[in-house]
Amino acid sequence: MVARSRLLLMVAVGAALLVALAVGVMSAGAASPQGTALISAPAVSAQLRGSVTVQGTATAVNFQFYKVEVGVGASPTSFSLIGDLRKSEVTSGTLVTWDTTKVPDGAYTLRLTVVDNTGNYLDVLRAVTVGNNAPAPAAEAPRRGCLACHVKVSADGRYTLAFEAKVRAAAAGAVHPTTSPSGVSLQPTDQTGIAPCLECHAPGQGAREGKGNIAPISLRDIVHPAHMFSETFKEHYGGNCFTCHNVNGQGGWDVLQDKVDVNEKGVPRTLPIPGARPAL
Ligand code: HEC
Ligand code: HEC
Ligand code: HEC
Repeated sequence: MVARSRLLLMVAVGAALLVALAVGVMSAGAASPQGTALISAPAVSAQLRGSVTVQGTATAVNFQFYKVEVGVGASPTSFSLIGDLRKSEVTSGTLVTWDTTKVPDGAYTLRLTVVDNTGNYLDVLRAVTVGNNAPAPAAEAPRRGCLACHVKVSADGRYTLAFEAKVRAAAAGAVHPTTSPSGVSLQPTDQTGIAPCLECHAPGQGAREGKGNIAPISLRDIVHPAHMFSETFKEHYGGNCFTCHNVNGQGGWDVLQDKVDVNEKGVPRTLPIPGARPAL
């Protein structure tokens, strides 16, 4: 008799525990009386490479710890811990950093679990894909020539060369000239090539050596670092020296001003390249 009622009690406690766990799981990801377990990044089904910061919120009343784990596939049967158990709550911040280069490419599921002092927990899952050996995110087809990129795409003139001039000068606390010495209008909505720019931004000579001929700085001293240190230029556009240059028959670095008609490898289709001009 005694043994039997004890068994029944254990079953009842077990069932209550199961219910408690189910509630925890069901309320995961949403604010609840117990707390919040939320992964805000990476996004659902995100393609990941390199070192990835898992971001979100891990809080609970009587918070004890949270952990972020990863399992193989879309519905893993086991998970392994990323880093350590974390003893401090996080609200809209970095939960853990995951070095995806340590695992083979493929589908994974991240799991965030928030545990309180009584052992109750909330958890939330996030399906992701690791692709360290997959081709880099589609860089655009090669573009060559300033006007392959610096054309007006909205009413305020972005991203013409004159728009760039205005914005960069404003960022330095100045007002950029709106007319070139020869009278070319340089309003941000005006679509120009580099000729009017070089009226003031050609490399200076004599006393102005190392500066612009009229402007304080030459165009080359602006555009070389501004592009070659730009993630957008390099990663998004796959930009490099040949985006703006062609090495001519004498070994000179012609500057490509007009949009060049190129094939999928950037090789020009029209020769000689229209708009290629020897540097000043
Ligand atoms: C493949 C696209 C592309 C081409 C071609 C290109 N640019 Fe740019 N340019 C950019 C991008 C992107 C930026 C913004 C860089 C950033 O802030 O990250 C930029 C910025 C600039 C700026 C602002 C510089 C600054 O101080 O922030 C100038 C000026 C400029 N470009 C001039 C030129 C000239 C002149 C040429 C041709 C010789 C040229 N660009 C060709 C993409 C291009
Ligand atoms: C009338 C002469 C003149 C012409 C033409 C001119 N600029 Fe400038 N530019 C200046 C001067 C002067 C400055 C520095 C003071 C200022 O910002 O007003 C400057 C500054 C800049 C800057 C900011 C550089 C920095 O310190 O970050 C950029 C970028 C720029 N010019 C790009 C251009 C481009 C692109 C063109 C052609 C569309 C152009 N400029 C035409 C005179 C000129
Ligand atoms: C965003 C466009 C752009 C990119 C990218 C770029 N350049 Fe230039 N480059 C220019 C412009 C504009 C000039 C100056 C033209 C002038 O003054 O007449 C110039 C000038 C030069 C000159 C001087 C040529 C002469 O005869 O005076 C050399 C050399 C040069 N670039 C090399 C490079 C190399 C190497 C790279 C890659 C590491 C590179 N450029 C990337 C736009 C670019």
